[in-house]
Amino acid sequence: MALISTVDVSRLFGSVYAVDRVSVELNEGEGVGLIGPNGAGKTTLLSLLAGSLKPTQGKIMMEGVDVTMLPVFARVTAGIARAAQIPQTFNRLTVRENVLLPAYFGARLSQHDAGIWVDEVLEMTDLLRRAGQQAASLGLLDRKRLELAKAVASKPRVLLLDEVAAGLTEPEIASIKEVVKRLQPGRVIVWVEHIPFALQGVCSRLLVMDKGAKLLDGPFDEVWASDVLQSTYMGM
Ligand SMILES: Nc1ncnc2c1ncn2[C@@H]1O[C@H](COP(=O)(O)OP(=O)(O)OP(=O)(O)O)[C@@H](O)[C@H]1O
Ligand SMILES: [Mg+2]
Repeated sequence: MALISTVDVSRLFGSVYAVDRVSVELNEGEGVGLIGPNGAGKTTLLSLLAGSLKPTQGKIMMEGVDVTMLPVFARVTAGIARAAQIPQTFNRLTVRENVLLPAYFGARLSQHDAGIWVDEVLEMTDLLRRAGQQAASLGLLDRKRLELAKAVASKPRVLLLDEVAAGLTEPEIASIKEVVKRLQPGRVIVWVEHIPFALQGVCSRLLVMDKGAKLLDGPFDEVWASDVLQSTYMGM
């Protein structure tokens, strides 16, 4: 059984289908890259999975249970978390405090357990040396790491990443990739990115969306090399 799946899911904005009848099954341990031109519906699909948007049609299933109507906080508890493109941090709190919040309220850990878990998360995300710093003082790379740390601190089994590498230099992207690889075991990661280099070597599967619809879905190298991708996506 899939860890999480969308069943014929659509989201309409006015007369625009941001997501148009997408069915996809995502399994534990998978790294799934999600690409497509601007406006293809990638962020909307992540929002439907995370629960910040409700579909106008179709269902979201998690291990056979219908979670379509669960609000965001209940989905976090159910094991779904998202890292946003624009880091959403509490700037006057320290890095550690920012990561403690989802450990308490998402993973629902006790003070003692949250302390131990947060140190592990900071280690995995290369942020241990920044733990006591105010979030406001971080550079872009560290803010991206913090966004990942906050998402993983709630102990998700479904980790949704929206352009966490956007705006970074190539060496910085390489270090974010190392972090994402460490977060992979035991969960499914869906990673939206415009930069294919970011996804290569982390994602074994590649999903392509265009105009709200799922265009391609398969092994990364196969999909990447396909004529449809080259003409539809790369040409734009
Ligand atoms: N809240 C909203 N209200 C109205 N239209 C929206 C809303 N969110 C998205 N859309 C529209 O839905 C379509 C899909 O948008 P979405 O943000 O999901 O695309 P995307 O693939 O993430 O694009 P990008 O690569 O630019 O981030 C676009 O036509 C967009 O204008
Ligand atoms: Mg987007």
